[in-house]
Amino acid sequence: MTSRTADAFLFFRAWLSAPLRVASVTPSGRALSSLMTTEISADTGTVIELGPGTGVFTEALLNRGVAEENLVLVEYGAEFANQLSDRFPTAKTVQMDATQLRKLPLHAFAPVGAVVSGLPLLSMPLRKVHAILEGAFSHLRPGGAFYQFTYGPKCPIARPLLDRLGLKATYVGCTLANIPPAAVYRISRRRPRRTFEPAHQDLMFDGQKAPS
Ligand SMILES: C[S@@+](CC[C@H](N)C(=O)[O-])C[C@H]1O[C@@H](n2cnc3c(N)ncnc32)[C@H](O)[C@@H]1O
Repeated sequence: MTSRTADAFLFFRAWLSAPLRVASVTPSGRALSSLMTTEISADTGTVIELGPGTGVFTEALLNRGVAEENLVLVEYGAEFANQLSDRFPTAKTVQMDATQLRKLPLHAFAPVGAVVSGLPLLSMPLRKVHAILEGAFSHLRPGGAFYQFTYGPKCPIARPLLDRLGLKATYVGCTLANIPPAAVYRISRRRPRRTFEPAHQDLMFDGQKAPS
């Protein structure tokens, strides 16, 4: 049995025992793995991966030039976490709930350039999604981004939640060569709004002096 077939079996068994957590009967394919990591390179620095499963995105990150020791793999399922630590021994694999990400001490891994999420956000309550995003952005450096895929027709993070956290979603692309087809979004911090500060107190109204 090839490791790909063994991974497909492991994934399917995990889905049978925890369908809501695993949320898919099969690991993501190559096309989605490539799209998820398209903006990531060796220059990104540390990458946190949430819900790596059998490690298809992890492999793609290594192929993009990210060093294995710059990977932090956060996986809830013991069946996947054990395999990930065997397969990627120099990455840091942590078996935990991604909603607790904020508490994970990652000072030695700073700066974190990207978070790659395979989490089934659409099947999670809003408060969990909130905790995951807040935790992720507490570790991300300024300019760092959170990548999320979805099988749905729009970004899986609701607009009011993005607004509350000062974040924005940008469509990266979609692939029909995945079962099912999937889209990828980049979630990043909004730029702080620039406030108009006149150089001189008496300069107002489109650069003209205020009438006295
Ligand atoms: C849809 S699968 C994606 C797996 C892999 N990234 C892929 O694309 O093939 C979801 C993964 O997220 C993990 N997961 C679900 N909820 C989680 C949580 N709260 N914390 C950490 N991992 C979680 C599951 O165990 C599973 O590995």
